[in-house]
Amino acid sequence: MKVDVLLGLQWGDEGKGKIVDVLAPQYQVVARFQGGPNAGHTLEFEGKKHVLHQIPSGVFRSEVLNIIGNGLVLDPIVFKKEIEGLSEKFGMDLTKNLLISKKASLILPSHRLLDAAYEQAKGDSKIGSTLRGIGPTYTDKVSRQGLRVGDVLSPNFQAKYNQLVDTHKMILGFYNFSYDLTELEQQFSESIEFLKQFELADTEYVINQAINDGKTILAEGAQGSLLDIDFGSYPFVTSSTTMAAGVCTGLGVAPKNVGEVYGIFKAYCTRVGSGPFPTELHDETGERIRQEGREFGATTGRSRRTGWLDLPSLKYAMMVNGVTQLIMMKVDVLNIMEEIKVCTHYQLPDGTVTEQIPHDMNDIEITPVYKTFKGWQTDLTNFHCYDELPAELAEYISFLEENLELPISFISTGPDREAIIHREAQLSV
Ligand code: GDP
Ligand code: IMO
Ligand code: MG
Repeated sequence: MKVDVLLGLQWGDEGKGKIVDVLAPQYQVVARFQGGPNAGHTLEFEGKKHVLHQIPSGVFRSEVLNIIGNGLVLDPIVFKKEIEGLSEKFGMDLTKNLLISKKASLILPSHRLLDAAYEQAKGDSKIGSTLRGIGPTYTDKVSRQGLRVGDVLSPNFQAKYNQLVDTHKMILGFYNFSYDLTELEQQFSESIEFLKQFELADTEYVINQAINDGKTILAEGAQGSLLDIDFGSYPFVTSSTTMAAGVCTGLGVAPKNVGEVYGIFKAYCTRVGSGPFPTELHDETGERIRQEGREFGATTGRSRRTGWLDLPSLKYAMMVNGVTQLIMMKVDVLNIMEEIKVCTHYQLPDGTVTEQIPHDMNDIEITPVYKTFKGWQTDLTNFHCYDELPAELAEYISFLEENLELPISFISTGPDREAIIHREAQLSV
């Protein structure tokens, strides 16, 4: 069997958590391959809502084995809180069906401080990081001085920790950043002991064995393709490979073993944090989308920036990921709109009209070229079948499919697990 991947095609928060939960019954293993507690994946079912940060979104299906892969940066403090939250709210014991890679990187309390110090120093040009220590932890990984989950089992762990924190303190001093680590370090020590109850494993062996045994595996992306360290709007990106290629390095899966690539996008766009957003709406329409879509961050609670769907960037994301199936989310949020716009091209300052993403997107003014559609203005709650969708919505979907040259396999019409319309996979455009 091959490993299927589900990943965001925009700037994150596309609804990945919901869809992983919807697809999970078809899979025996669900694995996260990158990112960390910067992610906030929301699941809703039976009137309950839950946000996951580091734990894969397969956990609500008891028969699924969940894996935190080597490509992640794991914060033990957040992990302990997440596990305790799941245990209190749902009575779950995850010690049996959650594996953590010994090669995943550890976020230390001082990484969070460094994140804050770097952002503060950037002033107006700050990234708008989630301040979860993501960038500094990946930096230490790449500069070959980071700590990994497996290190917690070493008798030298405290010495390794002290050495790294001493380095961090020097940097914090250089930035003149004031801090008090006492409380956080106390929590960190307790969390490290807590972490040891879980199975810390060389998960690349587990995944490859699962592939050989013919098990079904889903890799769950975090963030989105436009936040990718290489292909996103650098430097306004996260620090990991959010694309399908990240599955190979983040789980130890060979490229030949990657199967379906589910690309998920909202029927409009949102972005949290700084960086270019050509179709951003600064008007009442943007505010209506924000309110109707409850567009407030699942991790930081920040207001999400909102705008129309952007096809040049969507096509770019589909290209670099090799998307094989599309999933469109939050269609219901547009129910109230009299008209709906879709950006088909970018107009550059010299007048050129293009479908390509300019490399200097951060520095130039891009004017989106829009196609306008009539809104369907219909509540979609009771629609469960594609053929019954309002004609205006069907037209909007057909246009997207033609333009993106791929059918849209699922259409999501509400936050709940049940609010999903599945189209026949063999459909061709
Ligand atoms: P993720 O990070 O990609 O998992 O997405 P988030 O959980 O951060 O944000 C998606 C938000 O949209 C969550 O609040 C979901 O409950 C909600 N959501 C998911 N699908 C739909 C949908 O089809 N319609 C509406 N209205 N909300 C949705
Ligand atoms: P999910 O998985 C949306 C954004 C931050 C910031 C930039 C860098 O829920 O889709 P970082 O903390 O990673 O250094 O921040 O990336 N960002 C996200 N935006 N959804 C996310 O995750 C995000 N994770 C990071 O807002 O602009
Ligand atoms: Mg999110």
